[in-house]
Amino acid sequence: MKISTYPTHIAFIMDGNRRWAVKHGFNKLYGHEKGAEALADIIETLTKYPQIRYASFFAFSTENWNRGKEEIDAIFELIRKTFDDRLEELKSYNVKFVCMGDISPFPDDLKNMLLKVLDSCKNNTGLTVNLAINYGGKSDIVRAVNKALESGKKQITEQDIEENLYSYPAPPIDLVVRTSGEMRISNFMLFQLAYSELYFPKVCWPAFDEKQLLKALKIYSKRNRRFGGN
Ligand code: FPP
Repeated sequence: MKISTYPTHIAFIMDGNRRWAVKHGFNKLYGHEKGAEALADIIETLTKYPQIRYASFFAFSTENWNRGKEEIDAIFELIRKTFDDRLEELKSYNVKFVCMGDISPFPDDLKNMLLKVLDSCKNNTGLTVNLAINYGGKSDIVRAVNKALESGKKQITEQDIEENLYSYPAPPIDLVVRTSGEMRISNFMLFQLAYSELYFPKVCWPAFDEKQLLKALKIYSKRNRRFGGN
């Protein structure tokens, strides 16, 4: 089947890393390692589809601080390792990284690395990758409202909010994919998801590859989007 319509903005809730590891007889943390590889591979694959301009990924939620220290440290280490291993290659595909969320509570070396990464690709014009790290959808909206109020306006509009979200200037999300069969949004990009198409494949994130991506794109292409109209 030919894909007739591509999402301009696709988003991923990367779920099921630990379940994938347990199912395959590995240590749970190995699931995150494979998940980080899958993330870098999917970003690279997405650059083959120039119609897709923005990709957002839920990498660390504000609720993920409730996990054990060992797991949190392992995820931080994976962020460092993934950029060490894959940043140059992804930059060669003109990828631009943006962070969504409050990185201020992160260890200094990680924070500095992230700031350097963002700065090093800020002029790239290809796929924009929004990484949600220490991110919550409700706090994204509250922060945007407060920023919009700083202009002195007494009343703000939807557009004012949109223009102050972490993901701006990305347009609303066309398609969100949550892996592992869970059917929840879990406080991810609530404003940007208002009219998104939702897709919940059973596959766990570490196994989400180009074949799975193509399936998602084909399913999206067949959806009839009405945005509340006829
Ligand atoms: C969800 O699976 C996954 C996470 C909470 C962490 C995802 C993090 C990465 C893939 C690494 C990020 C790397 C970079 C470069 C940003 P889960 O642990 O909830 O799995 P489960 O549902 O099977 O328990």
